[in-house]
Amino acid sequence: MCGIVAYIGKRDAYPILINGLKRLEYRGYDSAGVALLNDNDELNIYKTKGKVSDLESFTNDKDINGHIGIAHTRWATHGEPNDINAHPHISRSGNIALIHNGIIENYLTIKKELQNRGYEFKSSTDTEVLVNLIEDVQLTQKVDLFEATRIALNHVNGAYAIVLIEKGHPDTLIAARKGSPMVIGIGGDEFFIASDATPIVGMTSRVVYIENEEVVKVRLGEELHLKTIDDVEMTPYIQELQLNLESIEKGGFDHFMLKEIYEQPTTVRDTMRGRLHADLGKITLGGIFDYEKKILNARNIIIVACGTSWHAALVGSYLIELYAGIRVKVEYASEFRYRTPVIFPDDVVIAISQSGETADTLAAIEIAKDKGATVLGICNVIGSSISRVTDAGIYTHAGPEIGVASTKAFTAQVAVLTMLAIHIAELNGHLPKSRIMELIHELDLIPQKIQTTLERSDIVKDIAEEMKDCHNAIYLGRLQNYPVALEGALKLKEISYIHAEGYPAAEMKHGPIALIDNDMPVIFIATNKSTYEKVVSNVQEVKARHGKIISVVTEGDILVKEMSDYVIEIPDTECTYAPLLATIPLQLLAYHIAVKRGCNVDQPRNLAKSVTVE
Ligand code: F6R
Repeated sequence: MCGIVAYIGKRDAYPILINGLKRLEYRGYDSAGVALLNDNDELNIYKTKGKVSDLESFTNDKDINGHIGIAHTRWATHGEPNDINAHPHISRSGNIALIHNGIIENYLTIKKELQNRGYEFKSSTDTEVLVNLIEDVQLTQKVDLFEATRIALNHVNGAYAIVLIEKGHPDTLIAARKGSPMVIGIGGDEFFIASDATPIVGMTSRVVYIENEEVVKVRLGEELHLKTIDDVEMTPYIQELQLNLESIEKGGFDHFMLKEIYEQPTTVRDTMRGRLHADLGKITLGGIFDYEKKILNARNIIIVACGTSWHAALVGSYLIELYAGIRVKVEYASEFRYRTPVIFPDDVVIAISQSGETADTLAAIEIAKDKGATVLGICNVIGSSISRVTDAGIYTHAGPEIGVASTKAFTAQVAVLTMLAIHIAELNGHLPKSRIMELIHELDLIPQKIQTTLERSDIVKDIAEEMKDCHNAIYLGRLQNYPVALEGALKLKEISYIHAEGYPAAEMKHGPIALIDNDMPVIFIATNKSTYEKVVSNVQEVKARHGKIISVVTEGDILVKEMSDYVIEIPDTECTYAPLLATIPLQLLAYHIAVKRGCNVDQPRNLAKSVTVE
């Protein structure tokens, strides 16, 4: 949902901004732009439809001098992706340039008012309206840009992370945020501002996360000057950045997505590190220690999430109900926020989000908090908005996920939910100690089994060759493998643009079976022990209608294997842990199909990594 970067210091701003945009390009990639204030106080703005590399070509023969600048990579909300709608946007006088991530919901009303007073607009964006509103306040109230920004933001509804530069002020950046994320890096005699810490890694390790409705003046040679938009002075809280360069680079893989798929033995191990104690037969989840009583006494657990995180939530609901005997409801955050949900003060709401910035999930959290529920977070990005607004939480520790299609975050989320389910069962005695020991022991083996799954996945390339020209695919699974089917289908449609559906296998006969013919690949996740025979019958039903059968089975399987055109074997494990293994070949399948179809795997069309708008 748009990436923003800004720099001020002694170095040339342009290479730092471009490099920063490249690291943020996962957030949006339909247009890009940069504004630089050179030493002659000229404000040079270059912007173009396309990727950051297009911006680089565009600026080849241009003046890119300057030690202060702002830059933006866009995921279009208001107005189609084109050169005019690209950021930065400039005020009527040409003095102020602004970049923006977010949506100004009341921009049409503000635009009308400004138009009535003679303002004209070139773009269809809410951002051009905002920069002119700020300049209007500056001129009419005779205040400096910092104050004008603060006052103007009081008239704005919606979400924003903005940075402004102004002619005549080569030593100052003004920034503010609400809803959309923003972090400031503090170097020796330089400052960086960005949507997340990735552009700052390697530059400085001292960072300040700006809170909602805060405005900041970043001036060379001075401390950060931080205020709320209500004019309350704030003290910046400087933290140490916990990211390294290696974790945000491709490390020899062709794509971030492939790297992230192959990282999963390590990331799942990292998720469980210090929490799963196989030797002691015990789980400790420090982040939620103070809330254990609330969880044990919860009337309901409600999990809110979107997309892949919602699929992880479905796996989690299955595990928590089975192991801990507590009722769990899983909700799309986007629906939950608008449908007057029944929430009791003794409910525990768990918000799951890789980015920790998803607007719908944040809104769902607010509703749950208003109703007095305890709200816990399961996030990947440390210091993200969701991790800060929840009462407590558990980080997934999967490391930065840069491929737009989520992979390692999913397995990390499932690993957290698995530990949570077992831990609640440990506390409430819903399972005997001996069973808990078995579950913990087996969970400890999962990273190694993920490694084995990856090593056995060569067959996936042949299946990808077979499937690369298909127009549709169906994924079927039962119980905890139903979310795996949904996730497999989502991965395929996101990055290869093949239409795919996931269903609970038994639902097929209620409609989707009409689609089966010899052109329809059907991917079965057939690892469950308890419903194995049922799934065998479903496979037979597809075979009888000449569908192409691809199945993910447990090693040693005979029946499904015999009926399948292609088989992927995963190591034997607790059937409830199958999602941690069975998802892996489906991620690889989507990846290889997308590569064979020539798709941009890491930056699929129309998508963005962090959905900070509704
Ligand atoms: C799918 C994908 C999205 C996200 C969804 C929620 O590959 O990446 O469906 O899972 O936008 O994002 P988070 O988890 O950041 O809240």
